[in-house]
Amino acid sequence: MKCVVAMTGASGAVYGIRLLQELPGEKILLMSETAEAIIPEETDYSADDVKAMADSFYENTDLFAPTASGSFDYDVLFVVPCTESSVAKFACGLGTDLISRTFMCALKEQRKIVLVVRETPKSAIMLENELKLARLGVVIMDANPGFYPNPKTVGEMVDFIVGRCLSQAGIKQHLFKPWGE
Ligand SMILES: Cc1cc2nc3c(=O)[nH]c(=O)nc-3n(C[C@H](O)[C@H](O)[C@H](O)COP(=O)(O)O)c2cc1C
Repeated sequence: MKCVVAMTGASGAVYGIRLLQELPGEKILLMSETAEAIIPEETDYSADDVKAMADSFYENTDLFAPTASGSFDYDVLFVVPCTESSVAKFACGLGTDLISRTFMCALKEQRKIVLVVRETPKSAIMLENELKLARLGVVIMDANPGFYPNPKTVGEMVDFIVGRCLSQAGIKQHLFKPWGE
């Protein structure tokens, strides 16, 4: 399995980090400038620590990177965490940086796309942008953990979302106990 993980500058860098730690197979990492700045604010990792968790990393300004072409083959694009600013770019079809261009290519090639969006409350513009993408088959997964596994730590709440991301990629997850099991 080969996945692209794009981290943008929303709160919740830990979601992207845990996903990189748990995803099997080859991982290609993209990061916006704001994501790079937020990682050391919110976690014990530096941006360079996180880049080292992936098999390859490309700068957001690098429009010559492999993921900027629809011909580059992979299984799933995750944008985790995903800002509303990036959602807006995706919904408008802008491809002016590597992350938005990668999304644009993944959409036209009908790849699996999962966005873990983080913002609250949401304006009508944000909701309309998300609806537009959801109608095109993009999975909009709010950073909004369930409480039915009875989490005891923040880490367990983070793992709920990361487990749901793995399930969306068709990977059997063991990060939380699904309802009914
Ligand atoms: C500390 C911090 C936290 C932020 N959290 C969020 C957030 O949770 N959701 C969001 O949509 N934007 C958030 N922003 C704003 C985005 O980072 C900003 O809109 C940026 O331009 C997004 O660009 P990007 O999507 O390319 O990373 C945050 C900014 C900072 C500095």
